[in-house]
Amino acid sequence: MLRDTYGRVATDLRVSLTDRCNLRCTYCMPEEGLQWLGKPELLTDDEIVRLVRLAVVELGVTEVRFTGGEPLLRPGLVGIVERCAALSPRPRLSLTTNGIGLERTAPALKAAGLDRVNVSLDTLRPDVFHRLTRRRRHGDVLRGLAAARAAGLEPVKVNSVLMPGVNEDEAPDLLAWAVAEGYELRFIEQMPLDAQHGWQRDGMITAGEILASLRTRFELTPEGAAARGSAPAERWLVAGGPARVGVIATVTRPFCRACDRTRLTADGQVRNCLFAREETDLRGALRSGAPDAEVARLWREAMWGKKAGAGLDDPSFVQPDRPMSAIGG
Ligand code: GTP
Ligand code: 5AD
Ligand code: SF4
Repeated sequence: MLRDTYGRVATDLRVSLTDRCNLRCTYCMPEEGLQWLGKPELLTDDEIVRLVRLAVVELGVTEVRFTGGEPLLRPGLVGIVERCAALSPRPRLSLTTNGIGLERTAPALKAAGLDRVNVSLDTLRPDVFHRLTRRRRHGDVLRGLAAARAAGLEPVKVNSVLMPGVNEDEAPDLLAWAVAEGYELRFIEQMPLDAQHGWQRDGMITAGEILASLRTRFELTPEGAAARGSAPAERWLVAGGPARVGVIATVTRPFCRACDRTRLTADGQVRNCLFAREETDLRGALRSGAPDAEVARLWREAMWGKKAGAGLDDPSFVQPDRPMSAIGG
């Protein structure tokens, strides 16, 4: 088991498959992109499957989510999913993607054993999409979403970040659209994880503001703590249900006490928290021939050192060196 000193047990593994992306969301990275990891630095497909197997078979992980950057850019994705789905016990498998390319790959991913997808989409307006992501790919994302639903990768969730002066007025429209399409919408408070270090607490749209905006058009009733479990999203029933809307309020309503996550970066570093400043090098251990028992020991030790919380409100908070796109969200 991956236990920490506060009694939390990590059963949910997020695996970043690449730090690259084909969008340039302004809240994530600069126009010119970032210094990407080189091929020799990335875990190979075999190394990823070995570490997932270890997590699932030896360390009690039951949920595996593939992230990026943009995980659909990883050539071996379908094969990795297939090999992880063949593990016993079989973990639940999901993917967080910007949706570009999903139109083509959704059926193969489903066939390989992927259970569900979360797709990022911040706006219904193509011009605003271009302003936010610096790419004209709005239609690709909408088609990707529809393909995921058609392939049965459900529930299909949509992640939206609202930015002041850009799409902050869109919350009710996004919710009306998501309810009509049968997608579960979640709004994410902007977090201090951008590569440019431009995040400012006063400049972000808060959960309170998002809910107030939604309530101008919808009746929302809290789903309650029992249904939430350890999920980052707090959820509300829309007009009595069954549709729901979620808010991931890392900044104004932190949920660290229930955290059940462990993370693996594309270059094989374990992170015990999204906001951790330390990492544990599993790639080095693998490549120096460490047996499974030794790699498992390193992973357990990394989680044992997990802090009580992200500490965003501590005056001493310092943003991690890696941006969101290199951690895996
Ligand atoms: P579900 O299992 O579908 O609920 O997935 P998820 O919401 O955990 O995953 P997703 O990749 O869709 O992430 C949505 C947002 O939640 C992203 O902005 C993530 O960075 C954020 N998130 C995921 N895990 C954590 C976490 O442990 N802590 C914090 N603060 N945010 C997280
Ligand atoms: N704050 C909040 N959410 C972010 N995402 C990317 N960068 C940030 C940030 N700084 C979102 C993406 C995607 C999810 C994985 O995280 O839009 O939906
Ligand atoms: Fe790419 Fe996601 Fe960053 Fe947007 S937020 S640039 S989709 S990694």
